[in-house]
Amino acid sequence: MQGKNILITGGAGFIGSNMVEKLLPDNKITVIDNLNNHVGDRFIKSFSGNKNFHFINADLLSFDYGKLEDIDTVIHFAANSDVRYGSEDPVKDFKNNVVVTENILEYMRKKDVMDILFASSSTVYGEASIMPTPENYGPYMPISSYGASKMSNEGFITAYSHYYGIKGSIFRFANIVGKNSTHGVIYDFINKLLKDPKELEILGDGTQRKSYMHVIDCVNSMIYVHEKLKKTDIINLGNLETTSVKTIANYVVKRMGLNDVKYNYTGGINGRGWKGDIKITHLAIDKLLSMGWKSKYTSDESVDIAVQETIEQLKNKN
Ligand SMILES: NC(=O)c1ccc[n+]([C@@H]2O[C@H](COP(=O)([O-])OP(=O)(O)OC[C@H]3O[C@@H](n4cnc5c(N)ncnc54)[C@H](O)[C@@H]3O)[C@@H](O)[C@H]2O)c1
Repeated sequence: MQGKNILITGGAGFIGSNMVEKLLPDNKITVIDNLNNHVGDRFIKSFSGNKNFHFINADLLSFDYGKLEDIDTVIHFAANSDVRYGSEDPVKDFKNNVVVTENILEYMRKKDVMDILFASSSTVYGEASIMPTPENYGPYMPISSYGASKMSNEGFITAYSHYYGIKGSIFRFANIVGKNSTHGVIYDFINKLLKDPKELEILGDGTQRKSYMHVIDCVNSMIYVHEKLKKTDIINLGNLETTSVKTIANYVVKRMGLNDVKYNYTGGINGRGWKGDIKITHLAIDKLLSMGWKSKYTSDESVDIAVQETIEQLKNKN
């Protein structure tokens, strides 16, 4: 992707800021973000002197999209990204994910913006009976309002694609980890152990298994796939292997240089971390691989590197 005028929504967040870093050398980037992410503009501050970088601090629910000029491509990350609290406030997922995405698509339709890359999620599958789960698995029965919101987003993107010829690359992410992460299991464990290095509360029973992908592989594969695709499509992004929650705890403990940490499992409902948590997620990535993509890191390597990156960032923050 070169010489483009790109809008990155949610570009001040975890994956978005990594995408800005990747694309800024060769493109003009506009980020819209309401900094509703606990870290403010920390991850994008270093770009502020760059003449090709423009930041708009705004809520995409109420933003005046008429202000945006000459955008070629939208990379849409803005969302309520924390799956955990859906059961407490599902309306938050509806507004920040469903309504915001519809606003973006309406803006694209009115301004003839024909290209979108969208961050969807493995949660659309719900508790899939086929593992690894391919893109054509069905019926989708999400068990979280977050998963439901992403499922709706995908449907609107394919509908706008059919109506107006928009090309949409829809990426169903596994768990993405790495620099600038502000939530998720690695971030949670490190924070807990910084407070109490003797004990670690582990949500669920620790046997939950998911596929982890490093954020560098995530943003690179998004661009790679979008450039190869001729028309709207859905692609799983992840790794061939999975990593268990207990293995992640072991990586964190080791990289923090701790010994004899007592693991306290909350047990949860059937070993899940929280209501709406999917215990085992493993995406089939044959489609991604058939396009010639090769990730730099395996699931375990992604976790281990992300653990080190997150420890470094959290230490520097304190
Ligand atoms: N991190 C993962 O493992 C993962 C997995 C699957 C899907 N995703 C999806 O990828 C995208 C990026 O995830 P992330 O982990 O970087 O999340 P993040 O929370 O770090 O980033 C999201 C950004 O969107 C912004 N935002 C939210 N609502 C907004 C609104 N109404 N107006 C303007 N800005 C708003 C937030 O301030 C935040 O900076 C999200 O859509 C998420 O659902 C992430």
